[in-house]
Amino acid sequence: MEGPSPFSVVFEKEPAMNSLFSPVRIGGLELSNRLVMAPMTRSRADAGGVPGGLAAEYYAQRAGVGLIVTEGTQPSDDGQGYMTTPGIYTPAHVAGWRKVTDAVHGKGGHIFIQLMHAGRMSHPDNTPHHRQGVAPSAIAPDTPIFTPKGMQDIPQPRSLATDDVRRTVADFRDAARHAIAAGADGVEIHGANGYLVQQFIAPSANTRTDAYGGSIENRARFAIEVATAIAGEIGADRTAIRLSPGITMWGIDEGAEGPDLYRHLVGELDKLSLAYLHIMHQGDERLLADLRRLWRGKLIVNRPGRPRDRIGSDVAAGLADLEAYGQMILANPDFIARLKSGALLNEADRTTFFGGTARGYTDYPALDAIAAV
Ligand SMILES: Cc1cc2nc3c(=O)[nH]c(=O)nc-3n(C[C@H](O)[C@H](O)[C@H](O)COP(=O)(O)O)c2cc1C
Repeated sequence: MEGPSPFSVVFEKEPAMNSLFSPVRIGGLELSNRLVMAPMTRSRADAGGVPGGLAAEYYAQRAGVGLIVTEGTQPSDDGQGYMTTPGIYTPAHVAGWRKVTDAVHGKGGHIFIQLMHAGRMSHPDNTPHHRQGVAPSAIAPDTPIFTPKGMQDIPQPRSLATDDVRRTVADFRDAARHAIAAGADGVEIHGANGYLVQQFIAPSANTRTDAYGGSIENRARFAIEVATAIAGEIGADRTAIRLSPGITMWGIDEGAEGPDLYRHLVGELDKLSLAYLHIMHQGDERLLADLRRLWRGKLIVNRPGRPRDRIGSDVAAGLADLEAYGQMILANPDFIARLKSGALLNEADRTTFFGGTARGYTDYPALDAIAAV
């Protein structure tokens, strides 16, 4: 054969990367390696939010990573933001997810379902009930969102009354119970990327005057209550949370107090002994180092766009216990085998990220398929 083969070793394997191939314990699970599939919305559930057979195939193809974190999954009908995202609050949802978790476990993998309440990042045209989105305060994020009619501005959300906030915490708790009933190994609370939990954290989205707004303690309260409720329901060893300190997308501005809020929040979460903390990290290295010190449990770090030659560096440095990757795993079902052999990686196709069929979902080639051709 002429030219470079897909099996050619393109770089000398870094010792840093090798640190990823040792087992690690997360809650009650023994993971075979320290690579995590980052949560990625793929918008391929049915109109009722039930994940189908293709989702089972997609996740099972990627079960070689130590841990899969699923796409964001709404804990209630109000929690949905985007079109055809899955839910975990009806018996049909539980049955759909059961097929996914069985398929992943059948391949020896482990899977946490990400519980994502979109809050104000929603549009009535995207949800089955067509209601206005809900949020800590009636402040629109000032950004358009993709809907069945194309991009549309997000309307002003309805502010949750204090009782509604308590109901929303209970929705998270119930969804976690359903996730376990569906065979998930645990749940990851989506506290990142500008969705409901982070809307409570950011003063730009939260101008409340009750116990959930104002001071650092009050703005962190919702996240802590959700984590506490879920841990009480399914066990702390099956409960995890994802945070993205300092991100500024979708009208989120945490202000000058942001880093101190996270120091408080992570210190409080640490007391719960959760399965892990997952940080989507952009920028503030000093804060990340502080959070590492405040968090005595397992830490997953995801650095968006991290180049291949930096894979393993956070684990090797002792900063993280595991590293999460999104697009590389989306595009490479056999990511672990490719890393170990130094093979080239498939490129992710952005045009098939959200919605659609098997194309760009379950048809990314694995090395053995290429070899067979
Ligand atoms: C298609 C797509 C969908 C995503 N959906 C989610 C999601 O549902 N929940 C979440 O926490 N992050 C989501 N993310 C962010 C990823 O988890 C990850 O943080 C991001 O892709 C950066 O990591 P990477 O450079 O390794 O891909 C999504 C990213 C992509 C590309």
